[in-house]
Amino acid sequence: MMNPTKSEILNLVIRLAFVSVATFWSAKWIINQLDPTNKSKKKAKETAMKQLKRMNCDKNLDNLNEYEIMIASHIVNPQDINVTWEDIAGFDDIVQDLRETVILPIQRKDLLTDSALTTAPKGVLLHGPPGCGKTLIAKATAHEAGTFFINLDVSLLTDKWYGESQKLARAVFSLAVKLQPCIIFIDEIDSFLRARTTSDHEATAMMKAQFMSLWDGLITDPNCTVIVMGATNRPQDLDKAILRRMPSTFYVSMPHIVQRKQILSLILDNEPVADDVDIDAIAKSSEGFSGSDLRELCRSAAVFRLRDYLRQKISTNINRSRNNSEGEVFHDALRPITMDDLKYALNKMRQSKIECGTLAASRIELD
Ligand SMILES: Nc1ncnc2c1ncn2[C@@H]1O[C@H](COP(=O)(O)OP(=O)(O)OP(=O)(O)O)[C@@H](O)[C@H]1O
Ligand SMILES: [Mg+2]
Repeated sequence: MMNPTKSEILNLVIRLAFVSVATFWSAKWIINQLDPTNKSKKKAKETAMKQLKRMNCDKNLDNLNEYEIMIASHIVNPQDINVTWEDIAGFDDIVQDLRETVILPIQRKDLLTDSALTTAPKGVLLHGPPGCGKTLIAKATAHEAGTFFINLDVSLLTDKWYGESQKLARAVFSLAVKLQPCIIFIDEIDSFLRARTTSDHEATAMMKAQFMSLWDGLITDPNCTVIVMGATNRPQDLDKAILRRMPSTFYVSMPHIVQRKQILSLILDNEPVADDVDIDAIAKSSEGFSGSDLRELCRSAAVFRLRDYLRQKISTNINRSRNNSEGEVFHDALRPITMDDLKYALNKMRQSKIECGTLAASRIELD
């Protein structure tokens, strides 16, 4: 057998190297194509980078891992939220408390360095009946704090691959620590962190446990300003250990008469209302209505004007074509919201609430 020459060996090595590189890249490309999450990962990266750039983030975020990037795509720019404290009526004490316990420690960290007790709470829980303004208060907090705000969509944490959910849960905290000061907001937190039971799926149980231990990790570092904010209308379903981690709790109650009056005044503030509108009377008769119900009440009252306008227009057109005269003048404009509109909307809503069983029938009737 002939010995290969030096150039033949070199040739062979070059060919082998070429084939291995080509195989490596082709295999990588095929694996990427086969990965169903590839597209969403790419999109998440683009969104995250765009958002962080828009927020003029001065932190070094080149070393974010792929999980942190997935979470970063859910960062909300406070400037994009158009809810301020002025949009919340009737909860001045909660707003004041949130300002002092959450926003001040974030914005004036320098003032609070002399004591370990004056740091921001690591967890804030907003709880209360549906439609009373919990999400609204969280939005206003995000806007007013002006810090990074991660709106954690729980569906983001669920992944079909075993172990991925835990990595994403870990990334929530590691990203928040890199971005601090930062607020992690979990709306309807009871669906995610409900009381642990033995029937929990293993992956879910592990995710919950990891979430709690990472949260504690934050608590042990006194200089870390990461606040987990949750909102729920079923606090009793939350795990006891989670409740302990949210020492700052705010009860956003069903509005009482004075609060209802303030909410109605705020909603009708920039609306065209007739002089006969008596907000006190509506507030008195709307017992058992949440802020969201009051908004709906005003909305439907405002829509009645449109219905009247259309009816009036149709009848005017019929009359005109019948008489073929120019005598009658039709004002082509919507009339203001009247007390009758509000009363009608209120009675209609109350009736429907009684039928649904969400309101007791013995409420004060409005003539
Ligand atoms: N105090 C309030 N002042 C002004 N508007 C309010 C107030 N409370 C509720 N609203 C109105 O009701 C809407 C619904 O409120 P929100 O989404 O905050 O309720 P929620 O408490 O989060 O309810 P859920 O528990 O069902 O999620 C708000 O967008 C707002 O228009
Ligand atoms: Mg809500």
